[in-house]
Amino acid sequence: MRSIYILMVGVMFSMTVKAQDRTPLYLDATKDIETRVEDALKRMTLDEKIRVIHAQSKFSSAGVPRLGFPDFWTDDGPHGVRPDVLWDQWEQAGQTNDSCVAFPALTCLAATWNPQLSLLYGESLGEEALYRGKDMILGPGVNIYRTPLNGRNFEYMGEDPFLASRMVVPYIQGLQSKGVSACVKHYALNNDENFRHQVNVIVSDRALHEIYLPAFKAAVTEGKTWGIMGAYNLYKDQHNCHNAILLNKILKQDWQYDGVVVSDWGGTHDTDEAVTNGLDMEFGTWTDGLTMGATNAYDNYFLAEPYKRMIKEGKYTTRELDEKVRRVLRLFYRTTMNRQRPHGFLCSESHYEAARKVAEEGIVLLKNAPVSRENGVKGAEKPLLPIDLSALPTGEHGGRVLVVGENAIKMMTVGGGSSSLKVQREVSPLDGLRNRLKGFEVDYARGYVGDVTGDYNGVTTGQSLNDSRSEAELIAEAVEKAKVADYVIVFGGLNKSDFQDCEGTDRKEYALPYAQNALVEALVKANRRVVFVNISGNAVAMPWIKDVPAVVQGWFIGSESGNALASILVGDVNPSGKLPFSWMESLEEYGAHALGAYPGTWREGGKIIDEEYKEDIFVGYRWADKHKLQPLFPFGHGLSYTAFEYGKATIEPCEMSQQAADAPMYRLRVEVRNIGDRDGAETVQLYIRDIKSSVPRPVKELKGFRKVVLKPGESREVEFNITRSHLSFYDDAKGEWVAEPGKFEAWIGSSSTDIKSKVPFVLE
Ligand code: BGC
Repeated sequence: MRSIYILMVGVMFSMTVKAQDRTPLYLDATKDIETRVEDALKRMTLDEKIRVIHAQSKFSSAGVPRLGFPDFWTDDGPHGVRPDVLWDQWEQAGQTNDSCVAFPALTCLAATWNPQLSLLYGESLGEEALYRGKDMILGPGVNIYRTPLNGRNFEYMGEDPFLASRMVVPYIQGLQSKGVSACVKHYALNNDENFRHQVNVIVSDRALHEIYLPAFKAAVTEGKTWGIMGAYNLYKDQHNCHNAILLNKILKQDWQYDGVVVSDWGGTHDTDEAVTNGLDMEFGTWTDGLTMGATNAYDNYFLAEPYKRMIKEGKYTTRELDEKVRRVLRLFYRTTMNRQRPHGFLCSESHYEAARKVAEEGIVLLKNAPVSRENGVKGAEKPLLPIDLSALPTGEHGGRVLVVGENAIKMMTVGGGSSSLKVQREVSPLDGLRNRLKGFEVDYARGYVGDVTGDYNGVTTGQSLNDSRSEAELIAEAVEKAKVADYVIVFGGLNKSDFQDCEGTDRKEYALPYAQNALVEALVKANRRVVFVNISGNAVAMPWIKDVPAVVQGWFIGSESGNALASILVGDVNPSGKLPFSWMESLEEYGAHALGAYPGTWREGGKIIDEEYKEDIFVGYRWADKHKLQPLFPFGHGLSYTAFEYGKATIEPCEMSQQAADAPMYRLRVEVRNIGDRDGAETVQLYIRDIKSSVPRPVKELKGFRKVVLKPGESREVEFNITRSHLSFYDDAKGEWVAEPGKFEAWIGSSSTDIKSKVPFVLE
């Protein structure tokens, strides 16, 4: 009996050992990813390999079912998880569990100047994506703000490569910490929307490397993004989704990128180029799904049957294919095959809180002047904001706070192109203020009618915004109500409709649309206590600026919009956002427009439009500085309800460690004190100036920033390290970054024009 038992145990033991033996390497979680990738690759058939490098539906690509790799699901991006569309049509799938939290648009995130919030943003979005079964979010976007007409600037992080780099890295890290891939877009030089499939960008190597690439490079080398999306446009006459220089040379060779290059939807144009020039996954080609299909349209993708045929005919070996598949498998192990991946949750209070925090820190107080008022509201000598509740009469007095404008009531999460969302809730500015000002009278006047539609791809806001009154009637009503108000708060700006802040088109003009200027001018004549809250992702012309005491930049801030705006306007939260771009008075003060370098010139034949970035490296404040232009609101500008005092900056050399690649050379210190009577946060900015150089350099460039929170009377010493890379420019003759010995200055500022102290130092 005993010997039978021993025999059975022995057999079971050897079965276990055999079962373990049989665990294929590619499924063995104790092995490193590269080993598993190679093992999986060896097992895959040609068909299986071809299948994983292109889409199988609008947003998914196939896994390898035979080997246990599930389908791979992407989704927009970048401000929330886009609702599901049908398998092969853009119409809604009609799910009832795909409403999400809308986080603030990326311009707002950049305006927080707070990398910690970017991390929180990425984490929260990652959790929403997981719940929704998405493995890759198509975002974040980091194309540089070159012209305020770009319809897609709201999806990006402003004009400065340093700021965008610091803000994009934590977003990626947060998202990917949840096992959801980022897909940083649109690589590269996608700086306007009109004719985005035809624009061929002509740009110097220097501007490419100093202005347009740094945020992508940081996303790759520091953020370790697993995905990058090629842009629609061309560079050196080659589409960027299969561009030899951008993808093979810079991205994969120089930056050692090991993730996938995903085409923008419909951005692939040629099999040979797609095979050889660095594209790994093709999406969105022939998306009608009907006309081109053999079995289905996806077989006709450039990287599907046509590619397979070329391999079979011997035009290509599987060398390029294997390289693409390796990258895709790596992506699978990082996401769908990551057994540690959490489950995620949707629309949680923690996500609303994250959205609200980003919104509250990103809203920028642009102007805040005092107004004298005849009928004697207390505190008239103080700046107009925050709304002084103690001076507001309650009760029957009538409308004390008058809210005006379509943007006070219009839902902004629907529209704008692929970043459009289906939200569980979106608090409008009017509702936000009404909730916050309970007990006071908050009246509303429409003021102007903009775009009353509210749908995108079958998601509708359900709002009925039709109003047939004439411009004059709308203005007259608002003026009448303004006459008896203590505060007039106008919510205007742009919206997410075509030719506003919207993918696929650029704005037609810098001016505010829909007769808003006439409205504002009429209102300030009736009542000086006007606050203009600009809802947009772009700067706009403000010809009435001298007459309007308070102006707030309110961005597109998603679900928590009204709550966040109300807390800033009432002063529950002290504003601390700073502009991530220069806000010029007129369009001609932007380099691209001053030089007629937008939108480019059509080539003969009408197929390609050449857009030469003639302003070169002088984008945004670099252009304003060079031409001594005073912006209406400079880059880095943003006011607070408290005030900060800066000490004198000091600098000292650091002990140089030979080992570290980009070791600190100098340490700069500056003390900042809150001299007002409220808690507040200040973003201290470090700009570097090269005094003498062999090449033209910007007057100064942002190379550091720190956001500090200070109580009244509190002070803090802020420290910056200055490294060689902060002093370098891209030498296009040598093809490398160079720091020339000589004199430099470190400037400490509260904005790019409000410079508090300057200290000289030398690079030996
Ligand atoms: C946009 C991308 C987006 C994709 C998928 C394209 O038109 O340019 O940003 O991720 O569509 O919706």
